[in-house]
Amino acid sequence: MTVTGLGYKAWLGGGDAGTAARLTAERYRSWLKRIAVTGAATGYGPLETAVQELVNGLEALLGWQPSIVAETEQAGGCVLVGTAGSSSVIDEVLADGVRAEGYRIRTRSGDKDQPCIIVAGGDERGALYGVFHLLRLLRTGADLASLNIMENPACRLRMINHWDNMDGSIERGYAGRSIFFRDGEVLADSKRITDYARLMASVGINGIAINNVNVHELETLLITERYLPQVARIADVFRAYGITLYLSINYSSPMQLGGLPTADPLDESVRAWWRSKMTDIYHHIPDFGGVVVKADSENRPGPFTYGRDHADGANMLAEALEPFGGLVLWRCFVYNCHQDWRDRSTDRARAAYDHFKPLDGRFKDNVILQIKNGPMDFQVREPVSPLIGAMERTNQMVEFQITQEYTGQQRDVCYLVPQWKGVLDFDTRCSGEGSTVKRIAAGEVHPYRYSGITAVTSIGDDSNWTGHHLAAANLYGYGRLIWNPELSAEEIASEWLMMTFGVSEEDPAGAVITRILHESWHTYEHYTAPLGVGWMVTPHYHYGVDVDGYEYSKWGTYHFADRDGIGVDRTQATGTGYTAQYRPEVGQRYEQLESCPDELLLFFHHVPYTHVLKSGKTVIQHIYDTHFAGVEQVEKWIGDWRQLEGQVDAERHAQISERLQMQLDNARQWRDVINTYFYRKSGIPDEHGRLIY
Ligand code: GCU
Repeated sequence: MTVTGLGYKAWLGGGDAGTAARLTAERYRSWLKRIAVTGAATGYGPLETAVQELVNGLEALLGWQPSIVAETEQAGGCVLVGTAGSSSVIDEVLADGVRAEGYRIRTRSGDKDQPCIIVAGGDERGALYGVFHLLRLLRTGADLASLNIMENPACRLRMINHWDNMDGSIERGYAGRSIFFRDGEVLADSKRITDYARLMASVGINGIAINNVNVHELETLLITERYLPQVARIADVFRAYGITLYLSINYSSPMQLGGLPTADPLDESVRAWWRSKMTDIYHHIPDFGGVVVKADSENRPGPFTYGRDHADGANMLAEALEPFGGLVLWRCFVYNCHQDWRDRSTDRARAAYDHFKPLDGRFKDNVILQIKNGPMDFQVREPVSPLIGAMERTNQMVEFQITQEYTGQQRDVCYLVPQWKGVLDFDTRCSGEGSTVKRIAAGEVHPYRYSGITAVTSIGDDSNWTGHHLAAANLYGYGRLIWNPELSAEEIASEWLMMTFGVSEEDPAGAVITRILHESWHTYEHYTAPLGVGWMVTPHYHYGVDVDGYEYSKWGTYHFADRDGIGVDRTQATGTGYTAQYRPEVGQRYEQLESCPDELLLFFHHVPYTHVLKSGKTVIQHIYDTHFAGVEQVEKWIGDWRQLEGQVDAERHAQISERLQMQLDNARQWRDVINTYFYRKSGIPDEHGRLIY
């Protein structure tokens, strides 16, 4: 099936790239009409893909196909693409400093017998990323006259997790159905998978887990002969783009598939079963990346059933994967999901640290702990998980959520790059000042053998991939940010804008889109859960307001609002002691009311409604003001967007208008329910006398 629609090409649009891109391409036409390649093709794929992408990309921009010439034949300008060790020109350009998956792009002008633009990859992936970078420069209208760019990825593992099920549904998916599975079958030959692999490789993703971490009955079979041949075909598609395939597995597979009476990780028959299973998998997929495991979490099976701990559980799989170089990505989202709301001593926020920190040093070195960015679950505002960086001798990676489960479900705009940047820039102090999350993920703080970042993706088979056209900025931004966490949210948005809409922020349409993106996270926070409290969402769906929806439930997600105050006391002095999980410099900042930042106040403290924030407002007035302001902001966007009719293509204009209207309805509902709820609880009127029901 051919999918059409402007959003389908996302940021890799073709000739519709905008005039700046076309002008640049035209200006450098003489340099761009030939492509020379050096580098031993390994059959691995990314170098061949790099050349193909360059040919297609240039053709789309220039309107004619460049020719491919042998390196020795080229003259009068060309693009030379190659990998380390393949030619003296490439090696000279690479010189020092380019690592695996890195690249260098240099212009050599003035010497007419020499290639003009050289894309030198540290390896094949590096060459592919370099080509995508060059195409990005073209599409954003950059000057190519004197390029001298060196890039190395910050993180070794740059992954995407899908929560796709084999019936075609996607857990927490808001953009259609799975591109991998349908009605119990694997869609191995779908062109969409190739197009998706391109999008992901273009922003530097190098690993992908294609099925849901909740591995149900049918998905358990993905590692059997019934499905492995098709899964292997998907792996082939990704391999060509330098992306390694992973699968989520069911911890109790030895019982469900192998007929064993137990899945005890210390049982020799269980260990032998997994060893043999891994041999089967690698027979089909020789470069299989490894497994993602959600164990003892939200009713999934795990080692606890057998009185074993998570090091026992993970190491058993690690041992089976070790001979093949495979990895175990072991999730730390482990907590009691059968809590009694009457019990105030159990604090879900503590769970990951309490479970895992004592196990530091016990995991094999092909196990990587996968830790959600916050201690709860991808709320609009949470502190950074205290487990990140806390284990010196255990590989770690951070998990983000691109799919907007709690942040508007791709009906509401919520540009998440600023939120992720806040996490990456956070100084955990785990090894002194400067122990930021981005440095931990890069393996610079502790000597991790493997580390990196992963995220739950937001795509489905909607023609524009992400449902809301503007939600694609998150998908793009995620890849760019984890490649280089020093990029600003503004730089990323600006690249995405130019590549997707062909305009800059100076253009009226570009200015509006940019403003909406940058205001969106705070706006969403304003009309939803205030001051870091979280969870006031409709249970199960997680869209829309239900203040007490989770208040008397088993999930451990409470706000404790009563007539006097609101918030969760997580202090050491009087609360759950969660603040002690941070390094003292950090923990003390949260522990003390005076130093706790306003935006996280209710995450750490239970305070009266009359408590005065650093902003000078009381908590109750803050709640009222932000909820009115959030709605006004969305109203303003709608007005601004309306002005752009005729300036943005009709298809995207109409779809975004429609979604903004949905967002307004949602924001109003949140405003009125939240304001009314807290007015009724507190009895304190709004200082400005606005309408509260
Ligand atoms: C959230 C989400 C679930 C998901 C879980 C996880 O709780 O709502 O759908 O399975 O996270 O990360 O495992």
